[in-house]
Amino acid sequence: MPAHPFITPAPPGYEPVPARVLTDISTLPCDLYIWRGPRPVLYAMKGGDLRKVINRAQRGMSFLVREVDSDLLRGALAASLPAVLANQRVTPVERSKTAYSIAAKVLSPIFTRENPLDHDGLLLTHQAIDAITLHLIEDEEMVWAMVATMQKHVATHTHAINTAVYGIVLARFMQFGNADAIRDVARGGLLHDIGKNRVPRVVLDKPSALDATEWQVMRTHVKAGYEMIVRALGYAPSYAHIVGEHHERCDGSGYPAGRAAGGIAMDAQLVGIVDAFDALTTRRPYRMPVSAFDALHVMRVSMRGQFSDEILREFIKLLGGLNAMSTGLDGAANIAGIMRVAG
Ligand SMILES: [Fe+2]
Repeated sequence: MPAHPFITPAPPGYEPVPARVLTDISTLPCDLYIWRGPRPVLYAMKGGDLRKVINRAQRGMSFLVREVDSDLLRGALAASLPAVLANQRVTPVERSKTAYSIAAKVLSPIFTRENPLDHDGLLLTHQAIDAITLHLIEDEEMVWAMVATMQKHVATHTHAINTAVYGIVLARFMQFGNADAIRDVARGGLLHDIGKNRVPRVVLDKPSALDATEWQVMRTHVKAGYEMIVRALGYAPSYAHIVGEHHERCDGSGYPAGRAAGGIAMDAQLVGIVDAFDALTTRRPYRMPVSAFDALHVMRVSMRGQFSDEILREFIKLLGGLNAMSTGLDGAANIAGIMRVAG
């Protein structure tokens, strides 16, 4: 597989770990290496005091761990997320950047087709996104910091994290339900496209329009995702329907069932909206991203009838407010412009 342009290279058998993500782990869960010569050199041993290691490491430095230790590290990283998010010694923006990097590190293997979704991997996924959900519900400052942190390049796991974050923030803004309801939006948003692991690369990465047969294949990702989650857990969790319904549309034009508005759960409609918005505003190999304003315009005008008017209006109001706080969400979209789209 070609190297992703945003991922630091690592020699075979190792994976890169930015120093930033290690800052709130006290004890090293595995050996840590650096790559300065022909081969990696041991930098710090498992069980060592990680804070001392980090203190003497240069900011921005990247370490390596052996791939066989990957699960150990991911477990420690997921467990460190609450401390990272609650760390009042650093700014919300810094906390968000670190939390986002940790989430990306913990979650990315779930979205690679080589790793089937298993029970432990799914529980680790819940642990990581639940920590972020709790903090975004409670901490107003973290909301805009996290939105500003989102990485808008194409990668399945960053689209997944972005969809979850937008989902949490919108559900919170709409007072959509209790913490459990928002947690389900987050988990469903994160895993909505997990079934794409089962779609052949030739279809998934095709740089031009899909033909009818390829569309049929692409559409299987919804059912596949639902089944992967149920298989991994042994039951259908309370967010599974979000995965199964995120491409249903209010006017009945969606899939797989072609249900109309009344037959689609509200949380699934909400995730469908933030999924479409993040997809439109993210750079793809074959097209530039559209601005937040243009994305909302497309969803409001060209795709009229597909999305819940009520939820879309709330989302537009939310983005207008976030933009007014200079989140860097989209320089071209001023609040007046976004509110005009709201109509
Ligand atoms: Fe999808």
